[in-house]
Amino acid sequence: MSATPVFSLIYKSKATQNFSPDQLFELSNKANARNEELMISGFLQFKNGDFLQYLEGEKTAVMSLMNDITQDNRHEVQSIIYLPELTERFFANWHMRYITPNEFNYLSLTDLLHDLLMQIDKIDQSPEEIENRALRLINRVAIHYNDTS
Ligand SMILES: Cc1cc2nc3c(=O)[nH]c(=O)nc-3n(C[C@H](O)[C@H](O)[C@H](O)COP(=O)(O)O)c2cc1C
Repeated sequence: MSATPVFSLIYKSKATQNFSPDQLFELSNKANARNEELMISGFLQFKNGDFLQYLEGEKTAVMSLMNDITQDNRHEVQSIIYLPELTERFFANWHMRYITPNEFNYLSLTDLLHDLLMQIDKIDQSPEEIENRALRLINRVAIHYNDTS
């Protein structure tokens, strides 16, 4: 729709409290409403106390949101991967969506996600390798939801 480059990042964080499925949906519903105002889209995944979130949008908006998210004491952000600039959004149809572990299993994304989480923690991994893994994961999620919604 616009020629403005899309800035995107994916990060991993560790929850500092328990999150029930209801709390996760509440978090993502609030995030969805605020991200709509900020014109930010993405997805959120939670597994064994780890969050993985993908955010895309205008650079200053994403950076400012990421700053708020980093200061949220319900979790501790551990690593952020800044992705190459995109010309189009992966998720033009929603703002923030919580993807349940069941959905991830259904999409056969569990392994990709697991790989990515493992790779993020490896300091000797080249940034391109991590970027590629992240992009593969995001792309698989995008293909699925853009096909079925
Ligand atoms: C894992 C995680 C992901 C979050 N993702 C978003 C998000 O995508 N958008 C958003 O507005 N807030 C998100 N939040 C909530 C923000 O950290 C913050 O609480 C929210 O922006 C409201 O800020 P305020 O209380 O200063 O108004 C997230 C929080 C956590 C713990």
